[in-house]
Amino acid sequence: MRRGSILQLVLIGLVAGVIATVVAVAVPWLPDPATKQAERIDFVYWFATVISLVIFAVVCAIMIYAMINFRAKPGDWSDGPPVHGNTTIEIIWTIIPAILVTAISIVSAIVLAQNSHAGTDPLIIKVQAQQFAWEFVYPNGKSYPILRVPIDRGVKLEITSKDVIHSFWVPQFAQKQDAVPGQVNNLVITPNRLGHFPVICTELCGLGHSLMRSWSFVMTKAAYTAWYRSSPKPAPSPTGGAGVSAGALIFTSNGCSACHTFTPIPAATGKVGPSLDDLTAAAKTAGQPLEDYIRQSIVDPNAYIAPGYQPGVMPGSYNHTIVPHTNIEVLVQYLAKNTK
Ligand code: CUA
Repeated sequence: MRRGSILQLVLIGLVAGVIATVVAVAVPWLPDPATKQAERIDFVYWFATVISLVIFAVVCAIMIYAMINFRAKPGDWSDGPPVHGNTTIEIIWTIIPAILVTAISIVSAIVLAQNSHAGTDPLIIKVQAQQFAWEFVYPNGKSYPILRVPIDRGVKLEITSKDVIHSFWVPQFAQKQDAVPGQVNNLVITPNRLGHFPVICTELCGLGHSLMRSWSFVMTKAAYTAWYRSSPKPAPSPTGGAGVSAGALIFTSNGCSACHTFTPIPAATGKVGPSLDDLTAAAKTAGQPLEDYIRQSIVDPNAYIAPGYQPGVMPGSYNHTIVPHTNIEVLVQYLAKNTK
């Protein structure tokens, strides 16, 4: 091979490699990791990306070199020389990819094993998904609609669902885990960056799916301990607790805001189902007393469909998923008191 040819190949490869590297590095393809696990996953991505960049540069160099140097002359319609087999090249292009693929799988296997290890004394939080809300239950038995975790401590999320399949995802934690009814799937996180990050449902679970979102707060250890000790907003007590505020909590923690507009709760701006601001008139249209109408709409939503809406949209599972059962009554009273 001539020295000029090698120089040409190297130059083309360098240009292709630099362009591809700039595209890989300059564009923020992945969110900034906020857990040790996400950093390990990022490492696997970059490991595979660097290998791909080198292969891309080599392929571009050979392809563009061939296009330039072996182009047919104008008017030359003859076939190229019949070349058949080259054992050396075949061995090379079998062994090198085999080594690279093996290396990627070994690195991935190590990261997978490390990422599923929660270490000694992990904080265990139960994650319960339901149409269309997240609930996080802490070791003290209290539950909250927002995930709070301390920095630099292994956290084991035990994820399940009360109705259909959902999927837990925080982009900055890099991992997704399905929430499956009747089954507990674990996800280990070791947060190492303070901040608040979105919790997103990433499995199509019904009409409110796109609104099934919450937040995860990574807090300093001191702030987390203070919050956990004071436990500012416990879940609604079984007896119904403090009337209006307990009702509002049941409303928000069951995801009603995703589909319904309800002025007393600023976050409730959903347009999937009917507005709950004028239930007295709606009950009159349905020919039922107000509280009976609200109760039936929650526990047996298809028994009566408000004009202009479709049956089967409101999940029929709230009869089982709003626990304890007295909470349904608290919610009914809350809505009856605060609607027009
Ligand atoms: Cu829950 Cu999508």
